[in-house]
Amino acid sequence: MDFLEYNQGILHCDGVAVEEIAQTIHTPCYVYSAAALTHNYHAFDNALPNIPHQICFAVKANGNLTILRHLANLGAGADIVSGGELYKALKAGIPNQKIVYSGVGKTTEEIRFALQSEILMFNVESESELLAIQAEAKQQHKRAPISIRVNPDVDPQTHRYIATGLKENKFGLPVEKAIKLYHQAALMPELEICGIACHIGSQLTSLQPFSAAFDRLLEMIRQLEQDNILLSYIDLGGGLGIRYKDETPPAPKEYGILIQDKFSGLSKTILLEPGRAICAEAGFLLTKIIYIKENDGKRFYIVDAGMNDLIRPTLYQAYHEIIPLRLSPDMEWTTVDVAGPICESGDFLAKSRSLPMLKEGDLILVKNSGAYGFSMASNYNARPRPPEVLIKDGAYSLIRKRETFDQLIENEIIL
Ligand code: LLP
Repeated sequence: MDFLEYNQGILHCDGVAVEEIAQTIHTPCYVYSAAALTHNYHAFDNALPNIPHQICFAVKANGNLTILRHLANLGAGADIVSGGELYKALKAGIPNQKIVYSGVGKTTEEIRFALQSEILMFNVESESELLAIQAEAKQQHKRAPISIRVNPDVDPQTHRYIATGLKENKFGLPVEKAIKLYHQAALMPELEICGIACHIGSQLTSLQPFSAAFDRLLEMIRQLEQDNILLSYIDLGGGLGIRYKDETPPAPKEYGILIQDKFSGLSKTILLEPGRAICAEAGFLLTKIIYIKENDGKRFYIVDAGMNDLIRPTLYQAYHEIIPLRLSPDMEWTTVDVAGPICESGDFLAKSRSLPMLKEGDLILVKNSGAYGFSMASNYNARPRPPEVLIKDGAYSLIRKRETFDQLIENEIIL
């Protein structure tokens, strides 16, 4: 869904002129569309009409409390990977019984907090973690709900930094080991085996790797049931890709058809952990051209957003479409690098990009930045992180303030 459109050459988002936001909130700034979030959430939720399911939004993609609250109001749960994410999910009003906890490095303190919070389940990634959860459950006189994350050794055909389901990756357990661990867990009274989990990677653009992983899961579920280990939940992780440039990812509906084909005979609840597919297209990064310079014939638009605000282009060579806030048919086009103010050659938002000839002070926006944008932002070069804005019902509101210089130093101790 494209919620951005030019109206007489002026870019609008859900009826709001984006320039207005730049005038009051200033740049750089993240902007999200509530309507787009709702649309994307429903696309997932409606993709599985014939099977009980719960969408657990991957908080790592966007942990803003208002965004989480918005999704919670639509019925979303959360996939969390840290105590901090659990804290945020609960603060935003996501029900504890809709929270699943993934990740290879859960600390004792984090396990304690999650167990006290009575989350839906822990997706366990190693034997040592299982033992740590058992020990904590014993201390709290509770039964800890667990599933085991399987690494099905499937190539997700995505960027190698965001592939997780290959045997060389640190995530999950290989099938045989996972089965052994289930048997071990079944003998521990402090643990309640609830399900099985799998997440093979992010930004997947074809169904084939999902299908291969689901087949491995099905085989395992059959084997476990033969051994009298019964599961209530099948957590299929996240990973569905979006179109940044010319990718043609399956729609949630097609993904849903595949899931129903594979699992609807089993009378179990499906959990999905989408992040990107819900919020990437729903957000953009608004930035201003500060300077235009040319070095040996190469033209640069130097903007006020840098790799600390949006690291994806430099970290994953990710393509993000950039569009100007004002567009007219008589504009000349040119090829530019769009670069930030940070002192690194890797600080760019786009390389050799065709854009209109703009001038200093003009505004542009970086599309599809609602996922892994702000959530990966840092204070590098002592830059305060940008504010976040939500457009809802034809009006915009600040949902996170711009950081201040005082906040940059508030935790420091001068000796
Ligand atoms: N569940 C688990 C266990 C995950 O590890 C992830 C993402 C997700 C769900 C959500 O995946 P999604 O639906 O968003 O693809 N920073 C990278 C993406 C890293 C994804 C890590 N895990 C990026 O900017 O592309």
